[in-house]
Amino acid sequence: MGNELVSCSFLLLFFTTLGPGVASNGVDVLRLPSMDFDAQNQGRSSAHIGHSSSASSADAIKDPTAKVFALIKDLVVGNRMAISFPYKEPSSVEFYPKQVTQNIPFSSDAVPWLLRFFSFSPDSKQALGMRQTLALCEKEPKQGDIRGCVTSIESLVQFARRILGPDTEVEILRSSLVSKSTPLVQNYTVLDFEEVATGNIVPCHNQPYPYPVYHCHYQLGVDNKVFKVFLRGDNGEMVDSVFFCHMDTSKLTDDHVAFRLLGVKPGESEVCHFFTAYDLATVPFIPK
Ligand SMILES: *[C@@H]1O[C@H](CO)[C@@H](O)[C@H](O)[C@H]1NC(C)=O
Repeated sequence: MGNELVSCSFLLLFFTTLGPGVASNGVDVLRLPSMDFDAQNQGRSSAHIGHSSSASSADAIKDPTAKVFALIKDLVVGNRMAISFPYKEPSSVEFYPKQVTQNIPFSSDAVPWLLRFFSFSPDSKQALGMRQTLALCEKEPKQGDIRGCVTSIESLVQFARRILGPDTEVEILRSSLVSKSTPLVQNYTVLDFEEVATGNIVPCHNQPYPYPVYHCHYQLGVDNKVFKVFLRGDNGEMVDSVFFCHMDTSKLTDDHVAFRLLGVKPGESEVCHFFTAYDLATVPFIPK
């Protein structure tokens, strides 16, 4: 009992720094933060490519947050490209300890309780974001999909092991957080890069919630690659970034903003994007 009280005040203390974060993050579509219904929010959705993409508008191509797409051939040491890395508070991306999150119910059935616990009014954006996230987390996987939400490092590792193998040492990759003064979009120079994994990659994306929750998904038989790319921004900021490549783009529609920005066609080329600090990729750890 005493422990629970400690956990709660710890949680609420952090929560006050989060602000009204609501972002609708379609799992199967490309989402950019500006597509969220409240542009002023602390949107934590991300550029995302799925296999039934429909979200593309004339505006998307001008959207600064769309500056995340590139091709493998763009990975050349010395190459300079404009990339968007939005600033995020560490408290909105870094997992809370398991001891804190495991005592808080995580289900749509508990929404009335959660609204009281977090002091959200039922019509607030926070409440809406929370309901959307819980609905996403409870959605049944499609055939060939494995999906779920994780609320701690331990649950992330457990989820990743379902896919990567029960005894696998799991490496969690995340792009570094940029500092507050870094522009949303600036040119970055590629200092170095390395391919980390092919195929066995579990990506996870931060969802709107009072504490960090990630939705992880994996499609059997889908060909992905992930790279670490070391970048230096024009402002001097160094970013260790995660660069995720969808190798099979044949099932995407060609009005996808990524194709228009990169000038390639579905099925003819991979499409890659830089992960923000609120996306994760888990891969088997391979000691060097
Ligand atoms: C990036 O560099 C190019 C070429 O030097 C320049 O035209 C462009 O405006 C720069 N973009 C940003 C966002 O600084």
